[in-house]
Amino acid sequence: MKKTDLFSRTEYPRHTPARTRTSPSRSPLAPYVLGHLPADLTAVAHGRGTYGELAAKQCRILRELDDGIPQVTDADSAALLQLDLLFMLNGYLPAGPSAFPRPLLDAVAAQRARFPMLDLYLSYETLIDVNCAEWDRTGDIRVFSESRLGLLERDFYLGHHLAEPPARIAFDLLRALVLEPDAVGTAAFLEGALHSLDDFRSHMAQYGRLPTEAFHAFRPYHMSYPGGPRGASGAFMPSVHLLELVLLPPTPQYGVYLDESLPYFPTWARPLVTEWRTLSGQGDNVMDAVLDGRLKLDDRAATTLLRVIDTFTDFRMAHLGITRKALPEAFAADARPTRKAIAAQAGERDVLGRGAPGTSGFTVQGVLTNAVYRLLAARRSLTEFLD
Ligand code: HEM
Repeated sequence: MKKTDLFSRTEYPRHTPARTRTSPSRSPLAPYVLGHLPADLTAVAHGRGTYGELAAKQCRILRELDDGIPQVTDADSAALLQLDLLFMLNGYLPAGPSAFPRPLLDAVAAQRARFPMLDLYLSYETLIDVNCAEWDRTGDIRVFSESRLGLLERDFYLGHHLAEPPARIAFDLLRALVLEPDAVGTAAFLEGALHSLDDFRSHMAQYGRLPTEAFHAFRPYHMSYPGGPRGASGAFMPSVHLLELVLLPPTPQYGVYLDESLPYFPTWARPLVTEWRTLSGQGDNVMDAVLDGRLKLDDRAATTLLRVIDTFTDFRMAHLGITRKALPEAFAADARPTRKAIAAQAGERDVLGRGAPGTSGFTVQGVLTNAVYRLLAARRSLTEFLD
């Protein structure tokens, strides 16, 4: 792609710093990770350096800091330092975990021993939540890629961060409906949820402009550790799954996915996802409440609920199209995943089965088409009920 192509598309959501820099980073490794790591990784990727040389340089930096185990005293600084250490560690992923330098692994483990809430691998919470919170605070964000590709990588992380609130608002509004189905204002609650989901969907649609080149530059650093923990992925984005749970009951295959995913959701989200999985499975979800008559819909509310499901499906179809463009090899060549084709599937796919794995370790085609399949099946039940 030509240089100018990256920035010439005005529709692509370019993010500018939320705040001007106000306070220095609380991680002693920030100057290296923010200022030098992307260039070092580019040099190795282009054969201008080796992983051995990179390890020697990083171990020297570590030794200069508190004799290999950098020290911080508060939890926020510890989370940032862990982010830096894990960015350094994941830089070796393209060469496989055998390339992880022992002193780096020791520093990650020592940090975790002191602050048990920290992850030992680059989780969604570390990559997106901790990284973007620092962006909100200081305007600094960690990326693996250099220069223009780095800016696009930054926007990919911020895209997830900024998409959480509208999906969360939709969840909160639907939760209020499910918990108090007799309250007045059902249509207004659904309209509020629809409005937020509309934001969420349009936000996603803009990511069709993210050049595939940028995605391929950073993706190798997000992968699961072979035989170890799953990598960071939208698959562990909490608001989207809370929204699905409050909208419809979990299917058995979605249960398999949730069983596997739970430890990879951000720490704060795990009890909430567990709670809503249980509630939803017991019938506390919008679909079951409508179908068993607890939640009464007038025409306005019924139309809006259908639009809520359609808009959530639009989000997932837009995302599916973008992913298919970025990772064509992850989709069976003979199966174009249109709405019609997905609706006609005999059921959900096995997300743990064969097929190209995503950074989450689940099969990409399984995760993304199942997510659409469940919404289309719910819409079908709802229209049959309303007819
Ligand atoms: C170039 C842009 C993007 C690409 C290529 C992409 C790719 C993927 C892939 C391959 C998966 C399958 C799971 C896995 O990683 O193993 C996935 C899942 C997911 N991604 Fe993305 N993603 C992109 C942008 C986004 C953005 C901006 C968001 C949030 C607004 C997002 C939210 C999700 C969600 C929620 C899932 C789980 C499936 C679902 O519940 O619908 N993705 N993504």
